[in-house]
This record gives sequence, structure tokens and C-alpha cells, in this order.
Amino acid sequence: MTLGTVRSALEGLTTDVDESGSRFVFGCDYNPEQWDRSVWEEDIRLMVESGVSLVAINVFGWAQLQPNPDEFDFSALDDIIGLLHGAGIGINLGTGTSSPPPWLSTLHPEILPVSQEGLRAWPGGRQAYCPSSPVFRAAAERLVTAVATRYGSHPAVRLWHVSNELGCHNALCYCDVSADAFRRWLEQKYGTVEALNRAWGTAFWSQHYGAWEEILPPRRTLSSGNPAQALDFSRFSSDEVLECYLIEERILRRLSDVPVTTNFMVTSHIRTQDYWQWAPLVDVVANDHYLDHRLPVPHQELSFSADGTRGLAGGRPWMLMEQSTGAVNWQPRNIAKQPGELIRNSLAHVARGADAICFFQWRASAQGTEKFHSALLPHAGTDSRKWHEVLELSRTLDAIREVVGTEVVAEVAMVFSWETWWATDLDSHPSEEVRYLDQVHKIYRALWEAGITVDLVAPGADLSRYRMVVVPSLYLVRDHEAATISDFAAAGGTVVVTYFSGIVDEDDRVRLGGYPGAFTELLGLRTEEFFPLPEGAQTRLDNGATASIWTERIQTTTADTVSSFLDAPLPGEPALTVNEFGSGRAWYLGTDLDHDHLWELLEQAALGAGVTVPPAHVTGIESVLRRGPEADYRFFINHTGLPHTHTISGHELITDQPVTSLEIPAGAVRVVRTERTES
Ligand code: GAL
Repeated sequence: MTLGTVRSALEGLTTDVDESGSRFVFGCDYNPEQWDRSVWEEDIRLMVESGVSLVAINVFGWAQLQPNPDEFDFSALDDIIGLLHGAGIGINLGTGTSSPPPWLSTLHPEILPVSQEGLRAWPGGRQAYCPSSPVFRAAAERLVTAVATRYGSHPAVRLWHVSNELGCHNALCYCDVSADAFRRWLEQKYGTVEALNRAWGTAFWSQHYGAWEEILPPRRTLSSGNPAQALDFSRFSSDEVLECYLIEERILRRLSDVPVTTNFMVTSHIRTQDYWQWAPLVDVVANDHYLDHRLPVPHQELSFSADGTRGLAGGRPWMLMEQSTGAVNWQPRNIAKQPGELIRNSLAHVARGADAICFFQWRASAQGTEKFHSALLPHAGTDSRKWHEVLELSRTLDAIREVVGTEVVAEVAMVFSWETWWATDLDSHPSEEVRYLDQVHKIYRALWEAGITVDLVAPGADLSRYRMVVVPSLYLVRDHEAATISDFAAAGGTVVVTYFSGIVDEDDRVRLGGYPGAFTELLGLRTEEFFPLPEGAQTRLDNGATASIWTERIQTTTADTVSSFLDAPLPGEPALTVNEFGSGRAWYLGTDLDHDHLWELLEQAALGAGVTVPPAHVTGIESVLRRGPEADYRFFINHTGLPHTHTISGHELITDQPVTSLEIPAGAVRVVRTERTES
């Protein structure tokens, strides 16, 4: 299927659930196999009471469904599907392949993945298989075929949930089977060993290969390894996991007409999948997101993830497949959500394009490693704040249901690339402090605080609908991808490029003639040497800013210097420049600016580009616009501890009141329907 059908599959889900018109999908993972049957009926009753309309089951069902290689037992799954169907609840049916049962790894220990150091993982957790293993793939095919044959036309099945978070734990496997598959992948890509030698720069350190058999995955080496090899291995690994998805997807398409998806992880701590490659291959773009309390401002990363998921969905509505009602169990300290936070988080996803809000999981487990993970129904039962908040969230989604199907309005794009993430974070670079996602998050955070909504786009994406494009540390960029950015500026757009961009081509080969290679003409400058700063060191700029991590010796050609460094190592040299390019403008930031000045710079660039920047924007009030055919919907999410008043005329959907001056209580969300401001 193509992106054009992504929308209709999700539309199917939002309209199927209720004949009275579109409604948000409200759902959860459900693991009834963890409970006695006596609990199931109560579960279904409470699901109906709380408005749950879609339930993901059989996500970890393999061991129950196939207790041994020669036997399938669908009786329990038949019953649970029957109960859900009887209650009018739709099913997001897991194919069940996410975690192989113990008998499979006992019979075939060779499916267990191997680390970079050569250590084979043991079973006993989950996802313990090598993605390239033909034995695993064949066993998965058999299971999916059985599941799809049995339930492929069941009227309650609304969506196929392939495996679960593919590649979450096992994306990188260095075993001999993976080594063989890697060689085949390389052969496909390069054709000849000589072409590979050129691409990998194996003239260096006597690494020249004479035959395919000599090539290995980038296993642990004594010194740094070959960066191009590591980069190709990341690409290969993403492709192999994607192939696991496609193997199942092909079976499902053959045996069923139900839309197919899998849950992505657009998140800060997993980066192994290039989801730009995956997105066109699912019918519904679905993401899992958990607040990460290891980050400075977790809810800003939530917004980033949501914008990224919308980017993958081509701007159209998408599905939040998993989030938590409260604490998770897998962070060092598992922070609970404050009253109101569950609704804020959920509506922040909605504000940024989610039309389906689902959770992991329905009922908190009593056993297993996730027993302290929150759920819709907590250990305490229905006599709990959590349960009442869940009911309130469900009512709130109902109150704003006319938002379903509308699209988020963004005038600014940010180029984001998993491939660049892999390449930037390789070792032996000028400074280990230049981490791709940190750079992206810093820029995103400044834009978020300025109240500017951004679309995340792939390198090379069509930029024509935007006024401004931000390019944070795009270290690896292909010629044609760089050209789309320059062309955008030439045609009148504004571009902001930050340091360590345009440095290498797709083979991680440095672009010669001065940095930032791919963008020197666009930016009207040339850098001849990097001067990264020592740990903790700062330098000042003549505009009052401080900067850290990075400086570089910039020589302007056609650009104007906006600000210069005051201190060593480059006193008097340009730090921030702007270049008129064609009918547009290109800014270059050659250092790591303090947060306030970064915000000021991006706001200034945006204003110059004609971007609508909210006047007197208050930090901590997240404001996003979704636009429908007849009306605009302005979301206000108050992340602060103080009430906030905003002048806006329209109808507030949560309180169902007309407003001219909108009061947003501390920690609350408001959604105002206004007339459409533009066509
Ligand atoms: C996800 C996973 C779920 C559950 C959840 C806990 O990674 O898909 O099965 O483990 O995390 O936060």
C-alpha cells in the first residue's frame, strides 16, 4: 500500500467504532493469558464502561498458541476474541511472533542473537532471536499463517499488529548467520568487492578485502573499526528487521483484507530502525511513546516524538499504539504521573496528529518483570485516582471527537535522519559531545518554547509547503538531499543550518574543499578547521550569548557575520552568519549556543521567514493547531503550575463553552474551535 492509503486505514478505525460519526480510537494492550478466566468478564465489562474500543491481544501469545512444534491450541484465543466481539470491542490482533517460546530456542539455540563481543544471549527475556535467522523466520511464518488463516476474516479483527516493537532489543546481531546475510546485502548493494573497498575506504590501515568471505559484521575490535562498515551494518540491520515485518505482512495480505501495521519506536533511546524506509509499508503509522525521565524535559521529547510520527505518516493522522497511564518499570527511577498529566500527555499526542490513543496495558500484571508498570486498571482496582482519570480521559476524547481526521498546521520543517544519527554518533569524531539527537533536541526545544510547530521531514523531502527549514547537524547528506535544501532557499525559503552539517557523503567520505562541504555555497562560507572546546569550557559571543562544545574557523565568502566569538580559541572570528541566497536566506550557526540565544535566533529567523510566531508566547503553554475542512482547532496545554489566560474567540470543546477570553487552569488542556483562518 502507499501513503495515500495510510489515512483511509486509520479513518476506517475511527469511523468503524461508532456509527454516529468519527471518534478517537481509545485502546490498550490486553494480556488475558496472565489471568484466570474469571477475570476476563470483569475486564470486558470495565472496558465497555471506560469506552475502550480497540484492544491489542496475542502480542506475546506464541507459547500459548503453539505449546510445542506439532500442536496449535487456539481455544483460549477463540474465547477471548468471542468475548471482545460480543461486547462490540474491536481487535488489534497480534501475530504473536514477538517472543519465541522456549521450545524453539531449545531445539534451535542457533536462533539466539550474538553481541558485538561474541556473547550469545540466553532465552528467558523477550525477543531473543536473530532477525536474519532462517529458522526463526520459518517458525514465525508458520505461526502467522495459522493465525491469519483462523482469524483473517473475523469481523472483530480491525487491525493486524505484526510482532511487537520490531528490533527493540535484538536489532543488532553479530552471529555467523547475520554475517552471511550481511555479505549478501553488501553484494546486492555494491556488486563487486572492489566497489565495496572504495566505498569503505579500505586503503586505510590495510583493510583491503580480496573476497566477500573475508567481510564480517563490525564485531568488537582492538582499535576503532571502519566507520563505513559500521554505517552499512546499521543500514543492513534496519533492513533485516524490516524484512521480518515484510515476511509477515505478505502472509497477512494473502490471507486477510484487514489493514496491517506494527508499532514503531520514535524515541530517544532506540535508534536502530530507519523508519523513513518503513513508513510507506504500513497501512497505519503507529508509535509507542513513554515519557523518558532521564531527559531534561520529558514532555518536550513527547512532542518531538509525536511530530516525528506525524512526519512518518506524511502529515496525516496517526496512531499512538502504546503509552503509559503512569510509571513504567524500565527506567532507573520510574516516576509516576501527577494528576492531570495523563490527560496532558494524551492530548499533546492528539494535538500533534494522533487519532488513536492506546496504552500498554489494560490490567496491571501481578507477575513478571512488568508488574510495577502502570496500566488503565491498576493493582488498586477501580477505587483509584488512576481509574477515574482513565474515565475522564475517555470522556475528554469524546468531547473533542470533531477533531478526528483534521491535520496539524506547521510552517517550519526540521530535517531528521536516522541514518545521520548512526553516522554522527560513530567514534573518532572531533568531539564526543556532538551527539546527533542532543543537537536535534536542543533546536526542537527552542522552537517548542517559541511556540513554533515543526514537521519532521526526511532528507530530500519536498519542502515547498514550508516557510522555514531547520537543519540541525546533518553530518551525512547525499548530494540530492543537500540540493533540495539549497533549492528551497533559492526559491525564497529561509534555512537554518547548524554546525557539523554537510560533512560527509553517504559513504561517510569527507566532502573536500572546506566544511560544511555540501552547504558551503548555500551558506556563503567555508570552514577550514574545527576547534571543539574542552569539556565544560565556554566561550562568549559579542551578542551576549555563551556557547559550549564547538567552535570552528569560518571564513565568509558571500555571507554576513551576525555574531562573532569574543574568547579563545577563535576571538573575533564569525560564530553566526547569514547569507542571501537566490530569493531566500540561509543562516549558519557554527557553535553550540546557550538555550535562550538559540531560541532568540530561531524566532528571529522564523519571523524573517514570515512564520506565524505566537505573540507574547508563554513558556510552558503548548499550543498547536489542527485544521479541518470547516474549522480550526487550537490546542492549549498548560504545563505550568499557574492558570493562563489567552484571548481567542470560539467554542471550547472540553468545557463546551463559548469563549472570547480563554482561561486555561494550571495543568489543564483546552481545545478551541474557531473559524478556519486560511484555506
Ligand atoms: C513496550 C512494549 C510493551 C511493554 C511496554 C512497557 O516497549 O511494546 O510490550 O513492554 O514497553 O513500557
